[in-house]
Formats: sequence, C-alpha cells, structure tokens
Amino acid sequence: MIATRILGTGSATPGAVLTNHDLEKMVNTSDAWIRERTGIENRRILEPGRVTSDVAAEAGAKACTAAGISPSEIDCIILGTVTPDMPMPATATIVQQKLGAPVGAAFDLSAACAGFIYGLGIGDAFVRQGVFKRVLVIGVEILSRVLDWKDRNTCVLFGDAAGAVVLGPERWEVKPRGILSTHMLADGTQWEQLYIPGGGSKHPTTSATVAENLHVVKMNGKAVFAHAVRNIASACQTAIDANGLRAEDVDLVVAHQANLRIVEGVAQRCNLPMSKFYINIQKYGNTSSASIPVALDEAVREGRVKEGMNILFCALGAGFSWGSTLYRW
Ligand code: ACO
Repeated sequence: MIATRILGTGSATPGAVLTNHDLEKMVNTSDAWIRERTGIENRRILEPGRVTSDVAAEAGAKACTAAGISPSEIDCIILGTVTPDMPMPATATIVQQKLGAPVGAAFDLSAACAGFIYGLGIGDAFVRQGVFKRVLVIGVEILSRVLDWKDRNTCVLFGDAAGAVVLGPERWEVKPRGILSTHMLADGTQWEQLYIPGGGSKHPTTSATVAENLHVVKMNGKAVFAHAVRNIASACQTAIDANGLRAEDVDLVVAHQANLRIVEGVAQRCNLPMSKFYINIQKYGNTSSASIPVALDEAVREGRVKEGMNILFCALGAGFSWGSTLYRW
C-alpha cells in the first residue's frame, strides 16, 4: 500500500510586528480586550513591495530543504490562498517561477482558512494515485492588504504568513505512516458570514466599489465563532472515528489558529486536553490558510513532533469550508 508522507516543512513570517498596543492607536480597542477575547498579542505585516508569492516561495524553499530535495524535483504546487498576488494567473505559477521549479502542475485553491486541509487532501489523492511524486502544498495569506484598518471587529484578528509541506509517497506493509484520512466539507448557505464583496464578477472593481469599501473583509464574528467550534469539533470526531481511534490516541492537535477561545471550545467538545494543542496564535494572529503549516513547522522545529505520533489537523473558514486530517508521523 502507498501512503502520503510529509517529507519536510517550512514557514515564512514577515519581520514587521504589529502589537495590540499599536492597534490601540489605530482603532478603539485595548490590549486587554484583544488578549482576553482572542488570545492574540502580535501579528506580522508584510513589508510594502513584497507580495504573497514572495512569502510563499520562501516557505516552499525551506520545506524543500527540510525534505532534502531540490525545488527542481517538485512536480505539483497546490497553493491555498484568498489573497493571491493578482486575480490571474494563479499565484502558484509565480511561486513555481520564483522557486525555479520545472514545468508541472501549479494551481491555487480557494477554501479560505481551510485551504491547507483541502490542499493536503488533494495532494494526498495525487500522490497515492501516482499522478505526482513530489507535491508542494502551501498555505499563504497576506490579509493585511484586504483589511479595513478602521474596523476594530476585523483588523485586530488577522496577520500575514506562509507555511508549506512537501508530500511524497511511502510504501507500507503493516502499519501506515502519513496521511490516514482527510475529510473536507462546505456549507454554502453560510457564505455571507465571511466574505470580500468586491473585485469579482459580482462587483468588479471600480472607484465606486472602493469608495463603498467592498474590497475588504466583512465578517459576522459571532456566527463564525459558533460554526467554527461546532464544525471543527465535528470534523475532529469524524477523523478519530474513521480511524478507529479514541480521543486519548491523539497525541497532538495542530488546529487553525483563529481564536484561542475557538480552540478551547473544540478541545472541550472533543474531550482533548489543551496540553495536546499546539498554540502560536499569540505571535501571529489568524493567518488563515497559513496557520496550520506555520504551526506544524514550529512544532517540528521545537521537537514537539515525534515519530509514531497521531496528529490531528483541523480548520474552518469562509464558505463555510472546513475539514480535518489525521496524520501518523
Ligand atoms: N476591541 C474592543 N471591543 C471590541 C472589539 C475590539 N477589537 N471588537 C468588538 N468589540 C466590542 C463589540 O463592539 C461589542 O461591544 P458592545 O457590547 O458595546 O456592542 C463587544 O466588544 C462584544 O462584542 P462581541 O462581538 O460579542 O465579542 P465576541 O466575544 O464575540 O468576540 C470576536 C468577537 C473576537 C470577533 C469573536 O466573535 C470571534 O473570534 N469570532 C470568530 C472570528 C474569526 O475567527 N474570524 C476569522 C475567520 S474564520 C476563522 O478563521 C474560523
């Protein structure tokens, strides 16, 4: 049997730090409110002049190095983002150029904060079917460029980052390692809870759409919160059940870092102690599709990830789109 393994991880976070105290000077908020309601202390903001593909290529190059391969061996790039360099072409193709990767498949995937989970699922199917041998899955988001910096409901939550993994096949006989299951879901009845109205066919960009502020994130925070806890917990339980495991068999949870209270809600519903969750939201805020691969990369580098561990990845984002992956390291 063939399983898909993560051969290497990498991440890139911009150098400029925006603190809660900085935000106090921009909108009517406080460090105490943001910490208490979200767990966020700092977030990173990409320097002017740099773009999504720069950070994605940096994370991708690091993942290749960690995997012990050259970018010239990558035959497929899947890039999850809602903040591409531009509407066309796919940012994945620009990353391909920047990495010096050869002609192969390269495409973007729009599943918002669940983009990395969707990317892992699609990459896994490609690898197991023998379609591609070395798949680079990237989650990258430069949300600072699509936020309303006068809206305290949204601007305090998000940050910029990229994370990446290289996937490849491994043959197994007795006990599989690698991706054990992926569950991907969406509920399109909820799309208006979190969206950017302008810039597409519905509201093509004009000076009027910009004047009306249609080019920035709109969010119903309470609805997102409630759906996130319920659906992420349900996806985690599905993954545990599908693999014939119990909650205590999960060694580490790398959840989307949206809000510390969302993660706590998921932990409670799934009977998983918070000590099993890797948390770095205090440093980066919500980096959407980048949050899981950045957290995984840091967990690997800190030695939190050990051979044989059952690791659960889970996320929910705009759409709503959500899902889970169970991985044996
Ligand atoms: N600073 C200070 N006060 C604020 C701020 C702020 N930044 N934002 C909102 N408030 C105020 C509100 O105006 C409200 O005041 P009022 O009572 O006078 O009306 C009060 O704080 C409470 O507001 P709530 O909306 O009830 O606050 P809540 O506890 O729900 O927290 C939050 C809001 C943090 C947005 C929460 O709902 C949340 O995290 N939702 C999920 C959002 C999310 O994660 N989105 C990311 C994309 S999707 C994903 O990644 C899962």
